[in-house]
Amino acid sequence: MFLSISSILRAFFFLAQCSSAQVSPPLSSLPPSDVTRSDVIFSELKTTIISGAQTAPTASSAPSSTTTEAFTAIATLSSNGIHGTASAITAVRSRPPTTRPCNGYPEFCERKFSNISMVVAHNSPFVKPHNVASNQLYTVVDQLNDGIRGLQFETQKPNTSSEIRLCHSSCEYLDVGTLESYLTTVRGWLDAHPYEVIAIIMGNNNGQRTHIAASEFIAPFKRAGMTRYLWTPPAPTMNLTEWPTLAEMILKDKRVVVMLDYGANQTEAPWLLRQFNYQWETPFSPINPAFPCTQQRPPNQTEDVSRNRMYTLNHNLNIELSLTGVSGLLVPASALLDKVNAVSGNGSLGLNVEHCEQLWGRPPNFMLVDYYNRGNFAGSVFQVAAIANNVTYNHKTYCGPDSNSAASRMSQGSTVLFSCCIVLFLFLGRDLGIFTGGFLLFASR
Ligand SMILES: *[C@@H]1O[C@H](CO)[C@@H](O)[C@H](O)[C@H]1NC(C)=O
Ligand SMILES: *[C@@H]1O[C@H](CO)[C@@H](O)[C@H](O)[C@H]1NC(C)=O
Ligand SMILES: *[C@@H]1O[C@H](CO)[C@@H](O)[C@H](O)[C@H]1NC(C)=O
Ligand SMILES: *[C@@H]1O[C@H](CO)[C@@H](O)[C@H](O)[C@H]1NC(C)=O
Ligand SMILES: *[C@@H]1O[C@H](CO)[C@@H](O)[C@H](O)[C@H]1NC(C)=O
Ligand SMILES: *[C@@H]1O[C@H](CO)[C@@H](O)[C@H](O)[C@H]1NC(C)=O
Ligand SMILES: *[C@@H]1O[C@H](CO)[C@@H](O)[C@H](O)[C@H]1NC(C)=O
Repeated sequence: MFLSISSILRAFFFLAQCSSAQVSPPLSSLPPSDVTRSDVIFSELKTTIISGAQTAPTASSAPSSTTTEAFTAIATLSSNGIHGTASAITAVRSRPPTTRPCNGYPEFCERKFSNISMVVAHNSPFVKPHNVASNQLYTVVDQLNDGIRGLQFETQKPNTSSEIRLCHSSCEYLDVGTLESYLTTVRGWLDAHPYEVIAIIMGNNNGQRTHIAASEFIAPFKRAGMTRYLWTPPAPTMNLTEWPTLAEMILKDKRVVVMLDYGANQTEAPWLLRQFNYQWETPFSPINPAFPCTQQRPPNQTEDVSRNRMYTLNHNLNIELSLTGVSGLLVPASALLDKVNAVSGNGSLGLNVEHCEQLWGRPPNFMLVDYYNRGNFAGSVFQVAAIANNVTYNHKTYCGPDSNSAASRMSQGSTVLFSCCIVLFLFLGRDLGIFTGGFLLFASR
């Protein structure tokens, strides 16, 4: 019986992948445009500016405005092809603003990291075809290329001699490899994208009682070549006004903010932020489609503190599986993703962000979603972010690695068909009583 169920499932997941692919060209196949001369000028000036800022006597008290102005000038110079000097920088300050985007938008360069809404891939590494415990369809490089700027995931040490691995709920169910290997991939992307700032938000040891020591995170980041990009906070807690601008982070090349939910020690690893001293979260892995924008973690934080810190909106709708040995395994509610990740409508990301803004006076910093490529169109989560950020959504978004494959030309109809199939499967599986055990056993092979 499992065999026949298995082949039906294979077909479903094949359809899922086909219908999720898009027809726009991938960024990597587009001409490199301005990523040539202006980059060279930028990087030459960057060295000068940073060394200047470090030797300035007021560097600790007033580096930010200097750096930001310099950045604007640099980008303006670069786009005009002028050979920059200090006097030229002053001279062009009144010209039209920069065309060099930071995290996709020129407007973001001068905004603080804490004043930008970013789309976060929930469980970013958990990309395994045919596995119901997966949270994303596309790998981390595609995620970043498409506009994801936050990478969230669980870490785990299945035994004391193991390296830190990336596992969903348990390494028995979904183990996608070592933290080091994943970080090496991310570091490669950062090397190739010098104007991008990202956040890495980790859970410590899959919610188990024992935590992985903060010091153990140092080696994987170091061996992945990530250390040089790690941003170190100036203080053990920070409110919204204290964050640097993206331009400052880019100029200093400290473009990766890393947070750990529990067990951080900023004496041992100063760049590994104790997450809840810098941001709070709405309810975790919700199964409530109303998605209340209330504060959940850290518990009992005063509203005054919350209003002055960054926050994460958990907008990943789950269904709960009960599996022998593991109670309450949460997996994405796949059939509803097109609605959950939509710009508007009941239960949508767009509506949820609006509710959050009403409650807190500002949109969430991190919008955590499953299968970011799904929605009312592929890219709708990025439109929600653009609205939250008060910038114009460019509609150039595509999602996925390759638009030219036959699979991507499949009609819209397959999306509908897929949703129907999943719903059918949920009923079928429940009625046959094999939904959890039978499927996962098959799926994890
Ligand atoms: C950025 O700050 C402005 C001014 O305080 C505020 O209106 C806006 O909601 C903020 N945006 C984000 C994404 O934090
Ligand atoms: C510890 O975990 C690693 C990674 O899963 C595994 O290769 C190794 O065999 C385990 N060692 C023991 C003693 O269980
Ligand atoms: C943010 O922190 C700074 C420095 O501690 C402080 O001067 C400022 O009043 C704080 N702002 C808010 C709104 O709490
Ligand atoms: C953090 O690490 C330092 C240095 O190893 C240690 O003295 C301190 O007790 C640690 N703090 C916590 C909360 O574990
Ligand atoms: C929106 O969804 C909620 C369940 O989350 C439901 O109770 C409510 O009736 C729905 N509202 C509309 C207008 O469909
Ligand atoms: C939060 O506060 C409530 C009472 O207001 C208390 O019962 C609970 O233990 C507190 N939780 C934590 C984690 O401090
Ligand atoms: C949104 O941006 C426009 C300029 O593009 C500006 O006029 C407006 O005040 C901004 N709105 C908010 C809420 O910041």
